[in-house]
Amino acid sequence: MRSLLLLTLACFLCSPALAKPVTGERLLAADRDADNWLSHGRDYSEQRYSPLAEVNAGTVSELGLAWYFETDTRLGLQTTPLVIDGVMYFTGAWNTAWALDAASGELLWKFDPDVARSKSITACCGAINRGLAAWGDLLFMGALDGRLIAIDRSTGQMRWSTQTTDPAEPYAITGAPRVARGKVFIGNGGSEFGTRGYVSAYDAATGEFAWRFYTVPGNPADGFENEAMARAAETWSGEWWRYGGGGTVWDSIVYDPEFNQLYLGVGNGAPHNRRIRSPGGGDNLFLTSIVAVDPDTGEYLWHYQQVPGETWDYTASQQMTLAEIPWEGAPRKVILHAPKAGFVYIIDRATGKLLSAEPYTTVTWASGYDLDSGRPRENPGQDYAGEPAMVFPSAMGGHNWHPMAYSPDTGLLYIPELDMGMLYDEIAPIDYRHLKRHYNTGYEMSHESYSQRFTQAMLRHLPKSHLLAWDPVRQQAAWKLPHPNIHNGGVLATGGNLVFQGTSDGRFIAVQADNGELLWTFEALNSVMAGPVSYRVNGEQYIAVAVGRGGALTMNTGRSYPTGNPNNRIMAFKLGGSAALPATPAAERPAPPPQPEATAADLEQGRTAFNRYCARCHGADVVGDGSIPDLRYLPAVWHENFSAVVLEGLMEQAGMPRFDDVLDSAQVGQIHAYVIARAHEDHALRQEQGWLAAIKDYATDISARVAAWLVRFQVRDD
Ligand code: HEC
Repeated sequence: MRSLLLLTLACFLCSPALAKPVTGERLLAADRDADNWLSHGRDYSEQRYSPLAEVNAGTVSELGLAWYFETDTRLGLQTTPLVIDGVMYFTGAWNTAWALDAASGELLWKFDPDVARSKSITACCGAINRGLAAWGDLLFMGALDGRLIAIDRSTGQMRWSTQTTDPAEPYAITGAPRVARGKVFIGNGGSEFGTRGYVSAYDAATGEFAWRFYTVPGNPADGFENEAMARAAETWSGEWWRYGGGGTVWDSIVYDPEFNQLYLGVGNGAPHNRRIRSPGGGDNLFLTSIVAVDPDTGEYLWHYQQVPGETWDYTASQQMTLAEIPWEGAPRKVILHAPKAGFVYIIDRATGKLLSAEPYTTVTWASGYDLDSGRPRENPGQDYAGEPAMVFPSAMGGHNWHPMAYSPDTGLLYIPELDMGMLYDEIAPIDYRHLKRHYNTGYEMSHESYSQRFTQAMLRHLPKSHLLAWDPVRQQAAWKLPHPNIHNGGVLATGGNLVFQGTSDGRFIAVQADNGELLWTFEALNSVMAGPVSYRVNGEQYIAVAVGRGGALTMNTGRSYPTGNPNNRIMAFKLGGSAALPATPAAERPAPPPQPEATAADLEQGRTAFNRYCARCHGADVVGDGSIPDLRYLPAVWHENFSAVVLEGLMEQAGMPRFDDVLDSAQVGQIHAYVIARAHEDHALRQEQGWLAAIKDYATDISARVAAWLVRFQVRDD
């Protein structure tokens, strides 16, 4: 019965007359189109502000779950759904895309582009995707394998596909494409593996290539693509192109209709350590910069570099938000930006001039900015040259990909902040070895003494996280709501004087936008990382958000949800909603096998190799986040096949890479012995403390022991 209804509904919606095209005019007016969420940041300003106000500070207590949709995987869900004329479109692991009835959550279609699972090794941050773009009757998705794919919005069928990267190079796409003036814009990631960043534009209707803008120069011997690259090359030294250089535009690309400019948020250097990348120094343009280009031609217009010669994995690829704010007595059109480096940058959109740069979190790498030159004042010793340095923010950033929001009602910017540092311990350039399929940072994070020093340093300044409301006019925080855990979700602001945010401890909350008062909480039974959206169908306002762990930050820091992770979901709320989430079946934690014979040196070698090669997916010190198997709880069959999985690619079809390029069977034996030792430690702890241990293991408690657990991880870029 239900499937019959579904079929009828699907066909009803697939009739072309009903799929109203997303035209340029519609996108330009998207801010006034309260019913819809037409593009990644809702409209071209990317404020993530919905004017809908039926759910407001007065009514939010009546907000309840209207429906939920469960996907078939626990791998990360970072998507911002689009909602167009009553249909919700979103993406998930391995570039699956779904269309749902936005009022009921019923499935309309599902699309799977069959991304080769062997791609997972060079997907730095999980097989995740952050969303779609819409134009005409098409949806666009950037796939992990570098394809840009156009999907028919009504039927879910592929209409065209084009390869935007060299498949032999370790590029991966996770960011949402953007679309304007009939063109689709797409960047890519992969700098840790040694890529050279760029953004490409394609004709939206046909997929025909239009232009490409590189963000860092290539080998001068090959000639430069344009004047901008020739100029940029003067700020590099050595043979940077051999390492790719980096500068990938892996998330934020924003079209500004008021100036007809396209802003690219450019990423970190490759490798991170600048002394390896560019031994003679230099600013290394356009790393960690906002670059404005002409959307029609890709021609360079202006740039503002936030971190010249970046060396901490600081990226400018976090969300850029366009706003008009009062500035020195007159309205000013600005970009608001709160990227990894820990400052809120306010940049004049006409000229690219820096107007303000004030720290929104703990910052030690620079003491501030000179507004005339736009340059930071770097603090001595923080570049860890020959001497390890504790630096704030960490490589995870004071704020990462999790979307922020700006409310024109309150004039405040709402930032999911992370107050956390990291110990950078240089690998001397002479000892540096570039690994094509693995991480290339140029600093060490896996040996025991590093771990101990890091833990010590962390205990002096425990990681914290806030929902932070920033007043750009007064250039200071307006209010801060502390969260018990780090790695909290994206933000939505609404006309109801509300801000919505998900948390890693499994809540979805509504906070009063003007004063930060917590008004409403829903237990989501899993971590919520993605950015929420709001839309209206049949006169009713909905708030929706993707639920699930996964992606760089949680995979690395580990800790599954205490009850175990259910499959990822979309939750949609409305006033009077009365649906309920099902209870999660208890996580299986089989007792570990007997400890194989291993010397202390074997275990230490195993630990170092695990943290170097495995931790980025299975969690530092073998504490998984539940999106990928926690190896402490392996069923017997995987212990028996451990070596075949790691060296022969037995589970490659499930996204488990093979490591025969860097490990031999003796080393895999050491890793296995170490994994089993960690399983025994965990088992003993659980016997001893039961539930309490599970909770403590998860929470960023203030007790020293829990803090020590918390910080035992290997950090890397998102
Ligand atoms: C790029 C991410 C990634 C890295 C790095 C990685 N793994 Fe995996 N691993 C996976 C995924 C995904 C699976 C399969 C999940 C599933 O079962 O669906 C997996 C599965 C496994 C399994 C089988 C367990 C199971 O339930 O499928 C073992 C054993 C394993 N990995 C060990 C390792 C070891 C040891 C390393 C380091 C040498 C490592 N992995 C590095 C992603 C990764």
